[in-house]
Amino acid sequence: LMEEGVMTNINAVMDPELTELVAGDLGVDIDFVQAETLEDKLLTAMDELEDDEASLKPRAPVVTFLGHVDHGKTSLIDKLIGIDVASGEDGGITQHIRAYQIENDGRPISFVDTPGHEAFTEMRARGAGVTDIVVLVVAADDGVMPQTEEAISHAKAADVPIIVALNKIDLPGVDPTRALQDLAANDLLPSEWGGEVEVVKTSATTGEGLEELLETILTVAELNEFKANPDRPAIGSCLESQQDADKGVVTKVLVQKGTLRVGDTVVCGEAYGKVKAMTDPLRPSRRLLEAGPSVPVNLTGLNRAPSAGEPLYVIDDIAAAREIADTRAHAERAEFLGSTGFQAATLENLFD
Ligand code: GTP
Ligand code: MG
Repeated sequence: LMEEGVMTNINAVMDPELTELVAGDLGVDIDFVQAETLEDKLLTAMDELEDDEASLKPRAPVVTFLGHVDHGKTSLIDKLIGIDVASGEDGGITQHIRAYQIENDGRPISFVDTPGHEAFTEMRARGAGVTDIVVLVVAADDGVMPQTEEAISHAKAADVPIIVALNKIDLPGVDPTRALQDLAANDLLPSEWGGEVEVVKTSATTGEGLEELLETILTVAELNEFKANPDRPAIGSCLESQQDADKGVVTKVLVQKGTLRVGDTVVCGEAYGKVKAMTDPLRPSRRLLEAGPSVPVNLTGLNRAPSAGEPLYVIDDIAAAREIADTRAHAERAEFLGSTGFQAATLENLFD
């Protein structure tokens, strides 16, 4: 390796070409094989665990609000749920992904709010990735804007039904025709123009159209009959995670299959741990002992904050969970060093 100008050590990862080159020099034949890790074994088995038809029970639809900045996503969710998040946001801008579950006439619905600011593409993609239905919020006075178009492409990539909330319809002199034309130009032909996309005119300020929006969501949910098996080890998705001074690592998780319980051992990205406590994001003082499919929770007990978007798995073996998480953390570190430190340290540049 030194003859090739590579300074390295036993912990570094060697790229395949270099490995072949060195092996060739030494007259050795090499075979590349993929090591089957504990992770592959356990998690592939979890992913492939088929839930037979009889095990599937109805679950709440997950409804994600997407759209351009300031078009009214948070205000609409606030109004639908009867809370007030919007007025407490820094600069009136959403910077987090939030999920809540409510009950409407005894039937649960989960709402996911996402930021519209252009900086948060990844959060919008994540919101679309966990959703069953997208509510595309378009301000009637502004029409389709860059992040509206981006949201449309996330919804299309997720292959989920789109309902449009044509919001701020209360603004004086507003003419929704342009916004409808914009939608049609983006392959979302409104039903009032003979297309298939339900466009509900709403105002988060006056409450106009909110009942119709909710009804449209419920109709789409009913048509799709979303189901999951609640009686299996849980799989969820990390929406966001952060270190809290008092509680330790707090992770927002949306459960997707199975039932997550306090005391379960979980692995999520490079993090693992036993679920210490779970709370309802809507009523933080309310502790939950278990959470089934489509239920969002804030949980504590992970040893570090996993990256957002990582799947969370219940694995009832703390040693295995630790090994998987630590192996990932180590691989991540090796990749980082491999991509920076070691490659940089060739004989040519060592003495620069
Ligand atoms: P980001 O999350 O930052 O992308 O914004 P958002 O889409 O959540 O918009 P938000 O709910 O924060 O509303 C933005 C501004 O529009 C606020 O000042 C709201 O009061 C106002 N607003 C929201 N909905 C309506 C509406 O229906 N009519 C009127 N007139 N104003 C509205
Ligand atoms: Mg918002």
